[in-house]
Amino acid sequence: PQTVDRDEQGRLTVGGLDVVSLAREFGTAAYVIDEADFRARARAFRDEFGAPFAELGGVDVFYAGKAFLCTEVARWVADEGLSLDVCSGGELAVAQRAGFPAERIGLHGNNKSTAEIRQALSYGVGRIVVDSFDEIDRIVGVAAELGVRAPVMVRVTVGVEAHTHEFIATAHEDQKFGFSLAGGQAAEAVARIVAQPDHLELLGLHSHIGSQIFDTSGFEVSARRLIGLHAEVARVHGIHLPELDLGGGYGIAYTSEHTPLEPGQLGEQMADLVQRELKAVGDGSPDTPTPRISIEPGRAIVGPSTFTLYEVGTVKDVDLGGGAKRTYVSVDGGMSDNIRTALYDADYSCTLASRRSDAKPRLARVVGKHCESGDIVVMDEYLPDDIAPGDLVAVPGTGAYCRSMASQYNHTPRPPVVAVRDGRARVLVRRETVDDLLALDQG
Ligand code: LLP
Repeated sequence: PQTVDRDEQGRLTVGGLDVVSLAREFGTAAYVIDEADFRARARAFRDEFGAPFAELGGVDVFYAGKAFLCTEVARWVADEGLSLDVCSGGELAVAQRAGFPAERIGLHGNNKSTAEIRQALSYGVGRIVVDSFDEIDRIVGVAAELGVRAPVMVRVTVGVEAHTHEFIATAHEDQKFGFSLAGGQAAEAVARIVAQPDHLELLGLHSHIGSQIFDTSGFEVSARRLIGLHAEVARVHGIHLPELDLGGGYGIAYTSEHTPLEPGQLGEQMADLVQRELKAVGDGSPDTPTPRISIEPGRAIVGPSTFTLYEVGTVKDVDLGGGAKRTYVSVDGGMSDNIRTALYDADYSCTLASRRSDAKPRLARVVGKHCESGDIVVMDEYLPDDIAPGDLVAVPGTGAYCRSMASQYNHTPRPPVVAVRDGRARVLVRRETVDDLLALDQG
């Protein structure tokens, strides 16, 4: 986070508070989110990313709530003027509880239930991103029942191989999301939707190519193909769809090996390519309205705003043979609060947070407390040689897809989310208790 610092005793501080006091008050493991940092990143997308689109019909930034969502964060998103992408009835319920403006909500999902569609249309969400022919029928049914016209977008599989982990790439042909462009289903979906003008209002086209992406060439191909379809829709149906959504996926730096794309720079690149592609197909000329662009960053807004604070429980040297050894530092959490290392081979770093140490560095593997050897938090990290039980370590960049993907594996209560700002801390999501877990168990 931007407000992270060290005090005279070498303790990590965030938002003016030191981590030793935070650990005393809220316990460990804990996710610590820097509110100012979150808000600044949200604003950067709105303003810096948005600026180059000003002459292009404008941009809407949808914060992807799947990265992390709770009521207060939904309020921050609303406050900063962003829209919100939700992908389940549960995420929508959080948005509703926060009083998030309905017209600024988009609903995603490849298998939305009738109940979820009803919840969304009753609340009056601004868009449903349609993902299958079955869903088109389902939305028509609910819209008819409620007597509303459902605003929809078509999720297009643009056929891009995004350069990221295969589990989080979403626009190549052989995966579950969207309507294939090459296979003609996207055009067919458009046709079926425009054939239902009483129940459906087609707003535009959507594409999301994947997550943790650094190379903008994938976005470029995706935008080109989406705009190609946009032009085809104009030709075939005589409608200039008012919106194009280019999805999220902007990568962040988990370690010093990554250089994240800055919102301003990204915005310029994206605006250039959108303008170029619109021109190439004769769209966006004075007699055709320019579509409004939307994007859906999740990780790039919330990821860097948060670190996880753990307490070291054990330090163990393991003999690897041939004189080699590895130091295992166990902390009071692990794959239940951050599954990303085990699931995606994700890289993290960590730092001794509770004191200064001048001891020489030693290579360590930071592991959790769960009953499997793949329970690794940080694969390789230099920590001071005198690291010991009771020390606190902080793992930065855990704002996205950590609490939101947390589990209660081994009946481990999930950690709290604590927000800091201007020297004050407050709990946004409280720590789970064993009683919470037992409450589900019918005995
Ligand atoms: N829009 C759509 C339609 C998405 O499916 C996603 C992410 C996003 C936006 C936001 O992507 P972001 O800007 O956060 O990269 N659990 C994985 C990431 C899965 C992403 C799922 N969809 C991880 O921990 O890396």
